[in-house]
Order: sequence, then structure tokens, then C-alpha cells
Amino acid sequence: MTDTIDTDALTEDEARTELARLAKILEQANAAYHTKDAPEISDAEYDRLKRRNAAIEAQFPTLKRDDSPSDLVGAPVADGFSKVTHAVAMLSLANAFDDADVTEFDARIRKYLGFAADSPLAYTAEPKIDGLSLSLRYENGKLVQAATRGDGAVGENVTANARTIEDVPETLSDAPEVLEVRGEVYMSHPDFEALNARQVGADQKPFANPRNAAAGSLRQLDANITRARPLRFFAYAWGALSDPLSDTQMGAIDRLQTLGFATNPLTQLCDGPDEMIAHYRLIEQKRATLGYDIDGVVYKVNDLTLQSRLGFRSTTPRWAIAHKFPAELAWTRLDAIDIQVGRTGALSPVARLTPVTVGGVVVSNATLHNEDYIAGRDNKGDTIRDGKDIRVGDWVQVYRAGDVIPKVADVDLSKRPEGAVPFEMPGRCPECGSDALREPGDAIRRCTGGLICPAQAVEKLKHFVSRAAFDIDGLGAKQVEQFHADGWIAEPADIFTLRERYGSGLQQLKNREGWGEKSALNLFDAIDDRRNIGLGRVIFALGIRHVGEVAANLLATHYGTWDAFSTAMRAAEDGNDAWEDLLGIDGVGAVMAGSLATTFNQEAEIASIYRLVAHLDIEEAVRPDTSGSPVAGKTVVFTGTLEKMTRAEAKARAEALGAKVSGSVSAKTDLLVAGPGAGSKAKKAAELRVETIDEDGWLDLIEAT
Ligand code: IVH
Repeated sequence: MTDTIDTDALTEDEARTELARLAKILEQANAAYHTKDAPEISDAEYDRLKRRNAAIEAQFPTLKRDDSPSDLVGAPVADGFSKVTHAVAMLSLANAFDDADVTEFDARIRKYLGFAADSPLAYTAEPKIDGLSLSLRYENGKLVQAATRGDGAVGENVTANARTIEDVPETLSDAPEVLEVRGEVYMSHPDFEALNARQVGADQKPFANPRNAAAGSLRQLDANITRARPLRFFAYAWGALSDPLSDTQMGAIDRLQTLGFATNPLTQLCDGPDEMIAHYRLIEQKRATLGYDIDGVVYKVNDLTLQSRLGFRSTTPRWAIAHKFPAELAWTRLDAIDIQVGRTGALSPVARLTPVTVGGVVVSNATLHNEDYIAGRDNKGDTIRDGKDIRVGDWVQVYRAGDVIPKVADVDLSKRPEGAVPFEMPGRCPECGSDALREPGDAIRRCTGGLICPAQAVEKLKHFVSRAAFDIDGLGAKQVEQFHADGWIAEPADIFTLRERYGSGLQQLKNREGWGEKSALNLFDAIDDRRNIGLGRVIFALGIRHVGEVAANLLATHYGTWDAFSTAMRAAEDGNDAWEDLLGIDGVGAVMAGSLATTFNQEAEIASIYRLVAHLDIEEAVRPDTSGSPVAGKTVVFTGTLEKMTRAEAKARAEALGAKVSGSVSAKTDLLVAGPGAGSKAKKAAELRVETIDEDGWLDLIEAT
């Protein structure tokens, strides 16, 4: 591959050819990026090619092309679909990877519900369709709206497109007044083959796999194009409902079928893990001949009352799990190991591979995790792969599991080329030259350059504009990178002065390649729209190590306002009240707390954060479902034996209603729920005059909501 040749070694002719090749690949990648459904090139690969292009241009300035990718900020985003806020969030599923995970799933549910190991508990088992989920809203039996999942809370309005799908009925008879039917849009294998043949015939790029073809077809702005693409739909779930469909999952699926929806014929009722696993094996056997892609089997608790008792974790239901098929594997050559620097300074070795197809997708990059992994050791220093190390030139086995980044699993020593040398991690950051150090107990080497490291700055900015963070229309990773390279933005705060600095005057956004009057104004407006933003998004957007989306939302609901949050983080110090309060949040541990406290006590970091906050109007975080809840904001303690629910269930219900559940009674306790056998806690509550009720009293209280 020419890609791996050092740019210094290129002749002028080779450089010209290479620049032409890169211009073509990057232009295609840009186009693909903007339709968002053709992921044949990763962001990392895109960045690498762009850097390579810049390096060659620096060496041969006269060869710079008129259509040089360096001048390209990205095509303006087409006016997209309107947004739909889902009445009931569209969640994802937790995964099981082996039989033991399935048995544990059943055990966990029994424990939560307080069911004995031998009491009956039925589940449905059905194929997990590899397509994209769609929510269809019917009112009075008429299809009124169809929306994609989006981020689970807000999706895209694709009603016109959904109406072109044969499996999507336009009208229903005898349906509940409001009915949201959820399921998967997919493309069958024969339809996919025929579509790709047509694409090639019309000189268009074929789709990588049926899932991408289905996604690309459903998300066409012109519904007539969707109409020409043979999409199908299986119904398997529901959202908002005015009347229940049934009292069991199986009954509800039957009802959906009676209403006119296609449901999967391999859906079956199982009486426990053994039958579930047997059905999984059967589906696995049939997988190759089904005629459509599936990537596992989904199990769901059959009794809908139990489903509602089990409820949800932050993004997944407790009552369902996806048992995934094993990842697909392939062997290929490791051409090079590059080092990427992440937003927290982590140096990550990335495998550049001779492209190989794994499960229908061409893979040319894979993660190698860290230097220990390459050397044949895991995070704890134990031997992996029988201690075999990985070297450039080796034959390696790569795999993809779900949508995750491909990984390198194994190496074939019998094919190791002579002279292959062990890999050595650089001791300096390849981007800024600062020392790259490992802390004791950490497998990751980190750049110590902090804010001076351009790679960290760019990665922080990319994270800042990502979907779960500021999600600014028209400002994606590529644009941020370009603006950063040209010195237009150095830190998040600079995004909010773009209009001021580049809306008029000598240098203007609308004059940049790929931009125009309309797209520039749209971007400035989109940025202004985001000045008003939720606290959880802001906390997540800061990109603090160990603080992911879920944690950011927990922090937001706990502290409520930016002022309360930032004051507490500045004050938090090992052992003091602010620290204990932070650690008291379910889901926050010492490592995350330490990371938050460190960030908020670094002067340069905090100055940069405050420069950002000065441009924002941060909304107060309110607990979503607790309006009218009698226990919202109260601290509740459970003690003694509970007879109608388990402790875990009681705690989860209370938290869902906005209460804080504590293990001990103190002056801060608002309510004690005491079952039979309550001892010292009840006594202490009496002393402190804390209101005390029994289990039935608790149920009456919360059921009134
Ligand atoms: S149930 C609340 N059933 O898998 C849970 N999902 O990884 C709702 N999927 O977003 C999902 N086949 O797009 C369910 N038989 C099936 C499915 C299925 C495919 C998809 C769905 C979901 C994703 C989660």
C-alpha cells in the first residue's frame, strides 16, 4: 500500500499521483460522511489521510491541487428531517455474550423480584434483527408519524418514507386510540443484492451491507427514492399506548400481528434459561438461510406486570437482554502501528491493516489498546495470547463485535517475517513532543502536554460538539478540526464567538471553500441555539476523564444547577463534606470523584471552563418523571423485611420517583420505611422524629402517583 510509504521518500511524480488519489478518497469520504450511512472510512482513517495529504503538500507546495482536501471544511449539511421527541424513550439492550450471561440474567431478575430459583418465570426469545429501529405512531387507527430512534430521546421524522414500506399499514382497525408500534426496518438479502447490482449499473457506489442499505434508504430526503428501495419491517415492541395490548409480551406480539404487522415467526415462549439457550442454538442454525441479517437473540420477560416492576436502568430495560452471536473473525497483515492522542492525552496504538472484510464491512484499522496488550499482557500484568507479542508485519486475527471498533485478537507466529522487531511505545507525544508517561497501575501512557497539546485540544473540541454533548448542526468533527487547524477555534468558548469574528469583516466563514451565505448563517444560528443548554450536556461536554454521559446526567440531577455543581467540584477534597456528598451519588466512585476534583482545581482548565460558561445559559436539571411525586428530593431509608418487593426493587422505584435512598438514618433522613424486624434504625428514627411508615404505607404513598 502506498499509504504506508513515508512521504519523504516520494518522487515528484509519485507525489502528484498520491495527491490526486487522496483528493478522490477524501472527497468520497466527505460525501459519505454527510449522508452518514456509509461508514467505510473511520474518523481516524480520515484524519490520517488528511495529515498525509498535508505532509505531501508541505513538501511539494507547487503540486497543491485546486481541489485540495486541505481547503475543504466539509459540504454544508443538507436541510435534514425535522426532529421528533419520543413520547416514550427508545432504549437499547444490554448484551449477553455466552450461556453463563443468560443464566445470570435470569438469576438477576429473580433476585430483583424476590422469586425463588424454582418458581415459574417465562421469557420470549426472538431474533435480533440487524436493521434500524423505527417508531410508528397511530392515532385513531391512522398512521400519523414515523420516527427513527435518533439518540433515544429525539429521532428524525421519516413519516413520508415509512409510508412507502409495504409492511407498514396506513390504517388499523380495532386499534387502541393511541398506539406507537416499534420494530426494525431491514432489507432482505435478495433485495440487497438486486439493489447493489442496480447501484453498480448506474455507476453508484454499492452499499457495504443490508443494514447500511436500509439506513441509507430510509433516511432519503426524497421519499420517492425510498419507495424504489424494498424495505421491510418487523414489529416487536411498543411505545405510548392508550390501552394495553395484552398482559404478556407474547400476547402483545400476537395482537400486533392481528392488527396487520409482520412479526417474526421465530418468536417463542421459553420457560427458563435452558429453553432460551436451546432456541438461541436453533436460530443460530437457521441464521444463514433466513434471508435477512440478524446478530443475536433477544430475550424478554413475558409477564408485562413483571416487566413494569423490573423497569429500566438509564438506557436499557432490566427485563430484556440481547444474546449476541459470536464476533466474526478474519486474518490479515499488520502494516503499521500508529499512535493517536486522545482528548485526555492517552496515547493509543492503532493497527493499520491490509484491508479485509469482516462480517460484511471492510476493516483497515483496529485498536491495539495499549503497549501491554501489544506485548502480550492484560491490564493486571497477566499473560494473554500465551504471551505472544504483536509486531509490524505480523499476520493478525481481527474481529468486530457489534458496532464497536475492530480489535486485534491473535497473532500467527509461524508467519512472522524475518527481522520483525518488538514494538516500542514512544516516550514522547507524537503530536506535541511533551513527555508521555505511565502512572503506576495504569496501562495507558499519557501525554503531559495538557492544553498545549494540539491533538488533545482537537479531540476535546470534537468531543465537545459530539452528539451527546453540544451537538451543533453543521459543526461536526471535520469542521472543528479545520477551524482548529486554521486558528479559528482553540477551545470550546471560541465556538461562541465565531459569528462575531467571522460573520463579517475581512475573513468570513461564508467565503470558505464548501460554505456559503446560507450555510454560514445556519451555523451561526445553530450555535446560538445551543447557548441555552441542559446541565447534563454541559458536564458531559467538558470531556473530564471517567465522566461519561450517564455520570454527567447523574451529577446534573444531583446538583441541579451549574453554580451548585461547580462550587461543589471546586470544594471537593478527599474526606471533606463536598467530597462525601459527591461519593454519595449512586454511580460515582472515588476515581471519578478524584478526576472531577482535579479538573476543577487546575487553574488553566477552570479558566477555560469559565470562559465557556460565560457564553451559556445553562438550564437547571430537573428530574424527568418526578412531577407530582410525593418523595421527590426526599431522603428515604428502608429497613427490616420487605414482603411485597425486594430491597433492590424498592430502591430503584424510590430513585425513579426522585428520592435519594440512603443506608443509614441521620438528621437528613425524611422518611423511614420499616418492615418487620426493624431494629436500631427504627429506634434512631424515633429519636430524631423522622416520619416512619410500613411497607403498605409506602406502597400507598407511591401508588397514589
Ligand atoms: S426490543 C426496550 N427486540 O436492537 C427494548 N430490539 O440493541 C426495545 N432490535 O434498538 C428493543 N431486534 O433496534 C428488540 N427483536 C428485537 C430486536 C431489537 C433488533 C434492535 C433495536 C434496539 C437494538 C438494541
